[in-house]
Amino acid sequence: MCKELFVLLLMAIMTICEGATYVNLEGPNPVRECKNYGKYKPTKAPVYSPTTENLSFEKCGEWNGKGDMPWTVIIAAKPNSSAWSSYAVTQTVTEFLILISFFGSVTLIMLSLKFPRDLTDNKETYGFLVSEQTVLAGFNPHHYEIENYRIYAGPCYSGSKDEELCKFGRGLLQKRALSRSRIVFRKNGYEMWKIEKVTITQHLKPICLWNLNSYDRESRFDSFVFTQNNTRSLKRTELLSHQQCYLNNSISSSVCDKLDSLMCSAFEYSGFFLITKVDNRYYLRATRWGNFLLSEYRVENRILWFDILQDIDRIVANSTGLFLMPPTPKLETEIDFGRGESYAGCGEVAQDKTRGRERRDTAVGFIHHGTNAPIEQNPWHASLSINFPTTDSLYDLCGGTLVSKRVIVTAAHCLYDPNTGDKIEAEWLEITLGMYDATDSEEIGRQTVQAASIVIYDGYDYFRNDFQHDLALIIMKKDSIQITERVRPACLWNSEYDFENIAGKNGKVVGFGFTEQFTKSSILQKAYLRIAPHEECFYTNKKFYSRNLRPTQNFCAGFPHNGTNACNGDSGGGLLIANGPSARKKRFYLRGVISFGPSQKKEKNNAEIRVCNPSKYALFLDITSYMQWIVDNSPDIAPI
Ligand SMILES: *[C@@H]1O[C@H](CO)[C@@H](O)[C@H](O)[C@H]1NC(C)=O
Ligand SMILES: *[C@@H]1O[C@H](CO)[C@@H](O)[C@H](O)[C@H]1NC(C)=O
Ligand SMILES: *[C@@H]1O[C@H](CO)[C@@H](O)[C@H](O)[C@H]1NC(C)=O
Ligand SMILES: *[C@@H]1O[C@H](CO)[C@@H](O)[C@H](O)[C@H]1NC(C)=O
Ligand SMILES: *[C@@H]1O[C@H](CO)[C@@H](O)[C@H](O)[C@H]1NC(C)=O
Ligand SMILES: *[C@@H]1O[C@H](CO)[C@@H](O)[C@H](O)[C@H]1NC(C)=O
Repeated sequence: MCKELFVLLLMAIMTICEGATYVNLEGPNPVRECKNYGKYKPTKAPVYSPTTENLSFEKCGEWNGKGDMPWTVIIAAKPNSSAWSSYAVTQTVTEFLILISFFGSVTLIMLSLKFPRDLTDNKETYGFLVSEQTVLAGFNPHHYEIENYRIYAGPCYSGSKDEELCKFGRGLLQKRALSRSRIVFRKNGYEMWKIEKVTITQHLKPICLWNLNSYDRESRFDSFVFTQNNTRSLKRTELLSHQQCYLNNSISSSVCDKLDSLMCSAFEYSGFFLITKVDNRYYLRATRWGNFLLSEYRVENRILWFDILQDIDRIVANSTGLFLMPPTPKLETEIDFGRGESYAGCGEVAQDKTRGRERRDTAVGFIHHGTNAPIEQNPWHASLSINFPTTDSLYDLCGGTLVSKRVIVTAAHCLYDPNTGDKIEAEWLEITLGMYDATDSEEIGRQTVQAASIVIYDGYDYFRNDFQHDLALIIMKKDSIQITERVRPACLWNSEYDFENIAGKNGKVVGFGFTEQFTKSSILQKAYLRIAPHEECFYTNKKFYSRNLRPTQNFCAGFPHNGTNACNGDSGGGLLIANGPSARKKRFYLRGVISFGPSQKKEKNNAEIRVCNPSKYALFLDITSYMQWIVDNSPDIAPI
């Protein structure tokens, strides 16, 4: 059965063949018949910046109401890309035909479009600029390779009607499309175009992405419409509730499945985008729901809109130059070891008799800007070396934290051969405990022990190189370690996992890693590092931390202002927080594992090396999310 439909929006006559199964929704509450309706919970409105502007892009959404909205772009294609260079024609009106093949059967869609006189290309659709390099558009059928597309924006589309300014070829901004992602979200979607970077001007600036904490899908919006006389304008749009929307309609099961991500308006409010103005800025809330040409996705006399709030994380992730603070997932159930002890006698340190000596000691080291760290004060620290059997070379790379008589917690990336990416064998590991001065082989109380096995966290992938779940356990042979004043486990974190409880506090780290001279320290170094609240860290470098900071999986610490931080070679070592009824009775609890951080290039022996950048926050794996796994894989640790 074929139906004819007059689409005001595109002024086109479409002939559409139905092929979908329909669900009859007549009755007082038709949406109830859609079995998934109400199951999909919208994400919270995003926070782009908690401290300052809270906008997806600085200066977004500002428009004085004159001319075209400055974020409007036209997406156009020329089938013959070699003709772009000679593009200077002054033809005024274009009419064209497009043949589209859907689902194997051929549907003829005749689009008879009258465009403004300034373009001779095949205008495919409109888009909105959301960052300097990103255009968001509805889901559209496209016919050409990406290099055939051009994005038009800027003063010539400001609608100024300024003949001189907009005379063809002048004041016209033409940008190449670099890529297009058609993002399929719940079987439908939208498009993100990456374009050549534009310069933000009065006539060309992004619209703000929604950041208002409202899921209301039934209020008033402005829709960006294409009116009959070819001007682009805004029209007040009344949204309908789902009940009103489908009352007199039959809707297909494909629409039924997606009701939770759709908004609905009456047909006369056609258009491409739903936007709204709040405090003098315009925000984008919805795009015209794609595939409206297909009967399967169509509801008669209604326009369906895709609510971008549903997929805002992905939209931002796929936009160049936009960054969101990652959401904090739910925490795992806390493990209580009872009376603060994951291992008998853990976390206790000998009385600090060295304080005076330490203060006089001017040796710098570590870890950047650390001080010497007497081993009695840090008896859980393990130094890891890899003794490669093939090359007979010794790499001393990482640190670790003893948490029981048999278990060392370290970073997973420490246990791979940096040259081949092969996982190393337990027998190749040389583990030294109770070491303070690495050059003193006669050091009293030092224990060199052999590992029995290595357990890497299942979700870790060395080749992904993103340091996600950078956690491993080294299990020692039974009775190979003696607990002494210089060798003693730290406590595992005990209940109260909430990050808020430690944000802003200082954690202690120790290691033999790179000092300010980017050479390894031979004396164990320590530093106290401030644990940064996630948002504070995130906004120091949105680009880096939006990819790498994953609340609950890791956290940031350091003193970026003066460069006190962990560095190369400290990886795997612990970040410990002291807790207890009094200074004398305090225990040290392992909370973080030194994992990675932003790097910088340095010259060393006439070669360029990548080293840590101590003026940026380093990232520490947060062990509270992995506690059950640690307990399950440790032969001698059990919660009470
Ligand atoms: C593309 O356009 C150029 C210049 O107008 C012309 O020389 C060439 O033959 C065209 N190529 C095709 C495949 O039509
Ligand atoms: C930023 O937007 C979020 C989400 O709407 C809101 O919860 C928060 O209060 C806003 N922050 C500021 C500073 O306006
Ligand atoms: C175009 O149509 C709108 C209403 O649809 C009207 O307000 C506007 O004046 C018209 N513009 C021109 C240039 O005719
Ligand atoms: C549904 O149809 C009835 C009568 O056929 C009409 O009175 C009513 O306005 C319609 N409702 C909508 C939302 O179109
Ligand atoms: C879009 O973002 C998601 C992450 O949310 C990512 O998995 C996907 O690869 C991105 N797509 C493109 C084309 O960048
Ligand atoms: C850096 O600042 C912190 C806090 O102000 C301080 O504890 C630390 O000693 C400083 N480091 C250096 C090298 O000045």
